[in-house]
Amino acid sequence: MNTHFKHEQTLVVIKPDGIQRSLIGEVIQRYERVGLKLVAIKMVVPTEEFIEKHYTLDPEWRRITGEKSIKGFKDKGLTPPTEDPLELTGLLLGKLKKYMTSGPVIAMVWQGAHSVAIVRKITGGTEPLTSPVGTIRGDYVLDSYQMSESDIRSVRNIIHASGSVAEAKNEIVHWFTKDEIIDYKIVQEQIMYDVNLDGIFG
Ligand code: CDP
Ligand code: MG
Repeated sequence: MNTHFKHEQTLVVIKPDGIQRSLIGEVIQRYERVGLKLVAIKMVVPTEEFIEKHYTLDPEWRRITGEKSIKGFKDKGLTPPTEDPLELTGLLLGKLKKYMTSGPVIAMVWQGAHSVAIVRKITGGTEPLTSPVGTIRGDYVLDSYQMSESDIRSVRNIIHASGSVAEAKNEIVHWFTKDEIIDYKIVQEQIMYDVNLDGIFG
């Protein structure tokens, strides 16, 4: 059983705006330089059905996302478009399907210790406006809940990244077949994971 921390995997999708902004290399570099290992990658144009399935793999996603968005408005002293989290995600899903099928996306699986949490930290929060400097969503894009709501579209935030280990497991099998994920070693893993740093001196 591959139970060591180093086997944790997470799904990252560079969304259509990330591709259009020529940020593919930049994004990959961010995850690569922290020490994560790229184990699967492909460019696809998703269908609306595929995107709806992706976002509703977790039956709780509708409620959690609705509540989070409503809080995002209220934290800024703004009135949310509705007080009902499920109504909000219903509207959101329609806009997400349009956004995510508007062009090619790049789907990837990244592997390494705490990969889910590490990738979310590097990616930043859902709303670019309030995403910290240093994160991908904080550094490369300027969208907000308020602007996307007023323009009746999704928040454009460059990346999708799995929100939990359970979400990652479901999402990876949704996007990739088993044989598209490559089991291989990179030499620097020794320096990150080996218990004894043997073999450095000649
Ligand atoms: O992507 P993340 O896990 O950070 O956020 P989510 O709550 O799972 O929502 C999925 C995606 O829906 C976001 O990345 C945004 O693109 C979009 N969204 C939106 O357009 N408006 C909202 N109020 C919330 C999310
Ligand atoms: Mg999410």
